[in-house]
Amino acid sequence: MARTYGEILESSFADVFALCDEDTLFLDVGSGRGLITAASVQQGGCYRAIGIEKYNDKLQESQELLASLPEDVQSKIEFLLGDFNDHDLTAMLQSYACTSLLMFCNNLAFQQGTNMRMSKNFRRAMNALPSVKITVVATTPLEALSDRLTDTISLDMTWAPGHMSQVYTWHGLSDVKAGVAA
Ligand SMILES: C[S@@+](CC[C@H](N)C(=O)[O-])C[C@H]1O[C@@H](n2cnc3c(N)ncnc32)[C@H](O)[C@@H]1O
Repeated sequence: MARTYGEILESSFADVFALCDEDTLFLDVGSGRGLITAASVQQGGCYRAIGIEKYNDKLQESQELLASLPEDVQSKIEFLLGDFNDHDLTAMLQSYACTSLLMFCNNLAFQQGTNMRMSKNFRRAMNALPSVKITVVATTPLEALSDRLTDTISLDMTWAPGHMSQVYTWHGLSDVKAGVAA
């Protein structure tokens, strides 16, 4: 199967899933063909996964992938069409009542303005949901989260092996108590 330019390779899925557990809602911001979104449930053990994709042709491919999966897996995954920045992330997360969220954001090719709006959107959600543990993995730095950078991981991408990516974490109330800036 031909790869969409810019995807994360399967060889690095486990490195992302190491940041997840069975309480994690996996949110793929720009889900493309949906491969890592589906794998987050099948391999990563996430209890639910959402992929948001701006372009209809890509979304169609992810819907076809979803239709090919076992029913019990299908019921845990959804793909939504749209620009991520048009979604009210905080309201969406409240509706899922999750306690742990991993946002995977393969944003190397996103426009600068998109990345800036997106990182502010992430930060608003972090601040509005102090009881939710939020982890963001981004392939390009997110300026509005720079003070919450906790790690870097090397991920294999279709354009290059070992692409250094950022991990931002926010543990809500426990970080506030520990004096981490809100
Ligand atoms: C590099 S692909 C990543 C696919 C998949 N997440 C992966 O890592 O294998 C990035 C995807 O983000 C989508 N995208 C770009 N800007 C977006 C936005 N503002 N909202 C939603 N999707 C977007 C692109 O159409 C593309 O399919």
